[in-house]
Amino acid sequence: MKVDVLLGLQWGDEGKGKVVDVLTPKYNVIARFQGGPNAGHTLEFDGIKHVLHTIPSGIFHKDKANVVGNGVVIDPVIFKKEIDALVEMGVDVKKSLLISRKAHLILPTHRMLDAASEQAKGKEKIGSTLKGIGPTYMDKTGRNGLRIGDIESPEFMEKYEALKGKHDDLLSRSEFEYDVTEMEKAWFEGIELLKSLTLIDSEHFINDAAKNNQTILAEGAQGTLLDIDFGSYPFVTSSNTITAGACTGLGVAPNNIGEVFGIFKAYCTRVGSGPFPTELFDETGEELRKVGHEFGATTGRPRRCGWIDLPALKYAIMINGVTQLIMTKADVLSNFETIKVCTHYSYKGEEIDFLPYDVLDAEIKPLYKELKGWTEDLTGLASIDEIPAALNDYIEYLERELETPITIVSVGPDRSQTLMRE
Ligand code: GTP
Repeated sequence: MKVDVLLGLQWGDEGKGKVVDVLTPKYNVIARFQGGPNAGHTLEFDGIKHVLHTIPSGIFHKDKANVVGNGVVIDPVIFKKEIDALVEMGVDVKKSLLISRKAHLILPTHRMLDAASEQAKGKEKIGSTLKGIGPTYMDKTGRNGLRIGDIESPEFMEKYEALKGKHDDLLSRSEFEYDVTEMEKAWFEGIELLKSLTLIDSEHFINDAAKNNQTILAEGAQGTLLDIDFGSYPFVTSSNTITAGACTGLGVAPNNIGEVFGIFKAYCTRVGSGPFPTELFDETGEELRKVGHEFGATTGRPRRCGWIDLPALKYAIMINGVTQLIMTKADVLSNFETIKVCTHYSYKGEEIDFLPYDVLDAEIKPLYKELKGWTEDLTGLASIDEIPAALNDYIEYLERELETPITIVSVGPDRSQTLMRE
């Protein structure tokens, strides 16, 4: 079997957690391939709301293997909190959660480096979540990192102290003051918990599972426009959020990738700094934020809101090789008289339909096509046949423009509020 991939096509928060949870019954294995606890995947079912940061969104389904792949970075403190909450809910984590020995560890001092770096940037802040993720990936590529497999080594403490020493040395050159004593206590408690879990060589696990006809879904975090290579650099995350990231983050060969599900919101949001051509600064933007509850699941930060951006979506579809589209939060657009779709940008006096390299500095103005809105509440709909004609027109218009089928439309946060179009 080939490995399917599901990932965000915008700036994250597209609703990946909910959709993975909905798709999980079709799969034997769900695997996270990149990112760290900056992800906040929100799942709602049976009146329960649950936010996952590092753990794959298939964890609530019995008899599924949930893999944290080598491309992920793990903070033992946050991880322990996640595990404790799951154990309380009766999840057998020892059985259903498998962690790659090659995943990297976020140290308390990585967090300090993150904070010191953002502080030094002043107004030029990237909008980091200050969870130490960037510095951990820097240590990974700098060949200094500590990995999950190291916790099984008798020299683990020496390795920890050596890396911490490097960080202390770096931090001593800044004005930044810190004390990680308390954090370290919680960190080592997290390490003890990790030791009790199932650690694996996940590349072998995934490839063996595929060979044995097991179905596998790779679950992305953040979004394509935050990709370290193809996002709006430098306002990006520190990993490859795209389909290629599933290859490196799990050890899957490119010719073993199957379906690529690209998720997008029916409009657009972005957290933190960086370019956002269709951002709305008016009442409409405020309305989208209010109705869509656009506040970060991990940070509580208000999200910037705007209309859907086709040039950016086309780019994301191209980079990822998307085979099926999934549109979320269609319900949030009910009651807008007109829905705007950005089809092109006006850039240096020209009309273009791609994101220019100097998107940061250049004046780019979105050019819109207006479509008719709808007033019906979508949250109680049981089937795609019940959707208002105007929403159907919106979906069909997007499909034509994006040259990719929209196979699922999500109309609310609950598992049950999902309409299949296949
Ligand atoms: P990141 O990896 O952090 O980008 O997260 P994510 O893509 O999993 O998205 P997240 O769960 O942070 O945000 C989506 C929010 O929208 C959550 O609160 C979901 O419960 C909610 N949500 C998901 N789908 C829908 C939908 O169709 N309608 C509405 N109204 N809410 C939805």
